[in-house]
Amino acid sequence: MGIGSAPVVGLDIGTSAVRAAQITSGRSGPSLVKFAQVALPPGVVAQGEIRDEGSLSEAIAELWKRAKLRSKKAVLGVANQRVVVRQVELPYLEEKEFRSSLRFQIADHIPLSVDEAEIDYEILADYESADQGRVMRVLLVAASSDMVEQFVGVAAAAGLQPVGVDLAPFAIARAVSPAARGEVGLAGAEAIVDIGGEVTNIVVHHNGEPRFVRILVIGADDATHALEQAMGWSFEDAEAAKFDLAGGFGSEDARRVVAGPVTRLVQEIRGSIDYYLSQEDSEPVSSVLVTGGGSLTPGLLDELEQALEQSVEVAAPLAEVDVTRSGLTDEQVAQVEPVAAAAVGLALGRDGR
Ligand SMILES: Nc1ncnc2c1ncn2[C@@H]1O[C@H](COP(=O)(O)OP(=O)(O)OP(=O)(O)O)[C@@H](O)[C@H]1O
Ligand SMILES: [Mg+2]
Repeated sequence: MGIGSAPVVGLDIGTSAVRAAQITSGRSGPSLVKFAQVALPPGVVAQGEIRDEGSLSEAIAELWKRAKLRSKKAVLGVANQRVVVRQVELPYLEEKEFRSSLRFQIADHIPLSVDEAEIDYEILADYESADQGRVMRVLLVAASSDMVEQFVGVAAAAGLQPVGVDLAPFAIARAVSPAARGEVGLAGAEAIVDIGGEVTNIVVHHNGEPRFVRILVIGADDATHALEQAMGWSFEDAEAAKFDLAGGFGSEDARRVVAGPVTRLVQEIRGSIDYYLSQEDSEPVSSVLVTGGGSLTPGLLDELEQALEQSVEVAAPLAEVDVTRSGLTDEQVAQVEPVAAAAVGLALGRDGR
């Protein structure tokens, strides 16, 4: 961050809440200066997409007030069905040539019209293939331009100056994993799983190089909806009952109702990891990190460990930054830690490190 320039705030627009994080980097590492969240009423954001622009920009304006943020500069995270991440094999080209013919080269590889999409890419490797000659492996990120403009528009309507839009799963990986930041080396690949209310993000990386990304529109709200239906409760009561179960209270009946959606979620996550592993020359997954409010769903971690046949570690994004200047108490840190990764990672990506 240059002298006099305003810091960039990470803004996570989730299904259940909007969250902001501001980070500064000192000699002793990154420090969290501000963090806050404002809950969203159901339906304002659905499956990571904006459904009610007015209510959302009001909530974001309220968030800036609550967090006492002076900088208007924000970087936004997106994760929904209108952004696709694909790893593709293409004929080898010099990067300059590839860049100038990018849209033409990738048109057949993404399920979006290239003229209506924002495209980003990373060339991961190039090698000789037996039948196609020299090829390169490219990670493509394509986001619907309409969707990106809508995010930017809502932030602007809240009085902000959006300076960038990042893929939320990458921000989350950066926030929770020293290996993803390139600070330490791991022998195998690492899977990072962020379980939200309606979106689950999965990133598999090898020492910071992304190997696989999947944005699933399934999350822990399914367990809440199952309780609503089976017990005849309101969404709020069902949420409260689910939180009770996670804390070790609640009825056996409620626990049984939650078990079905938990199994479906675990199977989806496992399916994605299996897909990654089925790719040619995939590194075995030696470590699994989970985060997101949905990771607190009763029974989920045990079932995930069983399904993946390996231990799963709960990520601690706020242990990676100094929180003393944020004013958060230890209790608040513990409370927000499961939902802080996206905002923190977005801010980390822009703090000039
Ligand atoms: N203490 C808790 N115990 C059990 N479940 C919880 C707890 N806190 C949050 N959750 C659940 O986590 C989910 C929300 O997770 P999170 O806040 O990470 O999602 P989000 O970022 O708002 O939405 P998304 O990422 O899906 O767009 C909800 O299903 C909620 O019920
Ligand atoms: Mg989220």
